[in-house]
Amino acid sequence: MKKSELLEKIKNEVVALEDSGLYRNRVVSGSFPVIGEGNHDAEVMFVGEAPGAQEAATGRPFCGRSGKILDECLGKIGFERKDAYITNIVKDRPPKNRDPLPEEIDIYRPFLDRQIEIIEPKIIVPLGRFSTEYILIKFDLGSELKPITALHGKVLKAKTSYGDIKIIPIFHPAVAIHNPRKREALQEGFKALKNNL
Ligand code: URA
Repeated sequence: MKKSELLEKIKNEVVALEDSGLYRNRVVSGSFPVIGEGNHDAEVMFVGEAPGAQEAATGRPFCGRSGKILDECLGKIGFERKDAYITNIVKDRPPKNRDPLPEEIDIYRPFLDRQIEIIEPKIIVPLGRFSTEYILIKFDLGSELKPITALHGKVLKAKTSYGDIKIIPIFHPAVAIHNPRKREALQEGFKALKNNL
């Protein structure tokens, strides 16, 4: 099967994921799941947490306020968003943007695992603490787990079924929404990404 077909299969499964507690919320609010978008052969995959209001209204990852910040950070390192693949661990919006629950991460993470296997990125950039924790544990780097402030911009090496990769955790772009002074610290993480491209 082609990558696009495998990714389409994931989309169809998530659309029909009635077992998820967030499914009802999606249907009642008339919103969409957010599967992911971008280059299917991307070298870099960004993994956020869960869709926000704007993302659930459009079905596109990082298209709201956090997305604007992400785009600006990428622009400053001369990296085009369309060259990456962007997704989240949790594919449906948690009500009122609350943190995802462990059982929500559990139900959606197999889809992320499959996206990684299909796209085979050389660099995975988890954005924020939830995706950092998940990605580090997934790739047997649980012993490296520290608060995101200590991991931000660090380059960790991991082994996957398709070869060696780098994992570069970065703060979630939302940190800069209410605290513009954090923008500089956020950008430092993107500089680490640029140095490893
Ligand atoms: N925050 C995320 O983690 N993901 C999105 O897609 C949007 C906001």
